[in-house]
Amino acid sequence: MNHELPAIIQGGMGVGVSGWRLARAVAQAGQLGVVSGTGLDAVMVRRLQAGDLGGHVRRALDFFPLRETAERIVARYYVPGGKAEGKAYLPKPMPCAKPSRWGEELLVAANFVEIFLAKEGHDGPIGINYLEKIQLPTVPSIYGAMLAGVDWVLMGAGIPKSIPGVMDRLARGESATLKLNVAGALPEEEFGTTFDPAAFMGGTAPLLARPRFVAIVSSATLAIMLARRSEGRVDGFVVELSRAGGHNAPPRGGTRLNEAGEPIYGPRDDPDLESIRKIGLPFWLAGGFASTSALARAVLAGAAGVQVGTAFAFCEESDLDAEIKDQVLKSSLAGDLRVITDPVASPTGFPFKVVELEGTLSEQVRYEQRRRICDLGYLRQAYRTESGTLGWRCSAEPVEDFVSKGGAIEETTGRKCLCNALLGNLRLGQVVADGSVEKPLVTSGADVLAVTRFLAPDQMTYSAQDVIDQILPDIIEEDPSQAPIPAAVEATQIPVA
Ligand SMILES: Cc1cc2nc3c(=O)[nH]c(=O)nc-3n(C[C@H](O)[C@H](O)[C@H](O)COP(=O)(O)O)c2cc1C
Repeated sequence: MNHELPAIIQGGMGVGVSGWRLARAVAQAGQLGVVSGTGLDAVMVRRLQAGDLGGHVRRALDFFPLRETAERIVARYYVPGGKAEGKAYLPKPMPCAKPSRWGEELLVAANFVEIFLAKEGHDGPIGINYLEKIQLPTVPSIYGAMLAGVDWVLMGAGIPKSIPGVMDRLARGESATLKLNVAGALPEEEFGTTFDPAAFMGGTAPLLARPRFVAIVSSATLAIMLARRSEGRVDGFVVELSRAGGHNAPPRGGTRLNEAGEPIYGPRDDPDLESIRKIGLPFWLAGGFASTSALARAVLAGAAGVQVGTAFAFCEESDLDAEIKDQVLKSSLAGDLRVITDPVASPTGFPFKVVELEGTLSEQVRYEQRRRICDLGYLRQAYRTESGTLGWRCSAEPVEDFVSKGGAIEETTGRKCLCNALLGNLRLGQVVADGSVEKPLVTSGADVLAVTRFLAPDQMTYSAQDVIDQILPDIIEEDPSQAPIPAAVEATQIPVA
């Protein structure tokens, strides 16, 4: 094992499941703690309206370099004691290609806050995770995280070729433009979104440390392309298998479904680890690797370690609603928990793992009861309007709106509003017109079926440290040759948990 690099990367889990508390606990235990960077502006303004318990958001904002911005955010959103239960959260600007100053301020400040808190009181490394598919908030978000000294940036769900170059520019205080993926754009057309650190900081931007950049991939082809053709330096890869929680890459060569309606994955979907190893950059394997033997097999295949999500998602320090965690752990213990890979739930079009849980949108009746609304807009996709301007649509928005924007009606079937549901998972769900609260939708890797292995006898909760101790007992951390490597495993074999 390479001791310069973490053996365990705690997976970035959005929205807000891996918040600063979890990332800090993991970093304090000597591994790489990662916060999710998705939707942080919404998380921050809702936490303030929920009363900012413990004063953490306001404490972090006290350190934000733009004092006036910090004060305006607190004045606008902080509600002492928390908003009344039946009152809706105040809105915040929707992501757009030319954001207002206020929209940028919320993004930069929210990412700053999360990293500041995750790094507070120790000197372990902290990373932040973004999705490539969500493009609009990315550059100001990375800038906010860099202002707070983030050490690693990880990005999946797409081809993040230009991100390392964006980070280089931001570190030098230079303006950076991210090219937008626009459906229907003509070959000669280019659309982009620009963020200028100097203008944002009101004159000159400070020189900042450039974090390491890790791309999350599920094939050697993509890893090789990113290593060769990215603008700027890629520092490593997380190689994610289809057992991982959250979004999964679709099966190669077209999607066929099994009887339960899930995409069928086969040997062609197993990444070619030998080709990835030959790239020469460090990599971590993800998707059912939360055990000592799985870590050992990953290392034998040439990996620097593993990325673990599910095991951390249900531990005490994660920001998932405590009642949901309890419900999941009890159901897992009873052996009646089910996780399905839903090919249509996510408006991104990627398969998305869903835990079947009472009271959440995984229940068909709850899904049908919900009135479609698009008021957060992170997953909206850009399209070219007939007049050549940019339009925005989401397949989970009201069907007639989507269709009127040129979207195909078939694309709306079974789509779920992840923006609202994932905030619901944190008890930060919006109160809607009829007074009800947006329902949660829980994602998790297949590993949740065995996650109770981290519970001590008679206990119904476990900590991030318990997870790390089980994967990396002291004896192995000190002497990796003690790891129980199964003799039959070959270096190139895909590790199977
Ligand atoms: C609740 C949850 C949310 C996740 N959200 C994201 C995300 O927003 N972005 C991402 O790149 N990966 C996400 N993941 C994937 C994890 O970062 C990690 O790669 C994965 O969980 C590893 O597999 P495991 O769950 O079997 O440990 C999520 C996983 C879980 C369990």
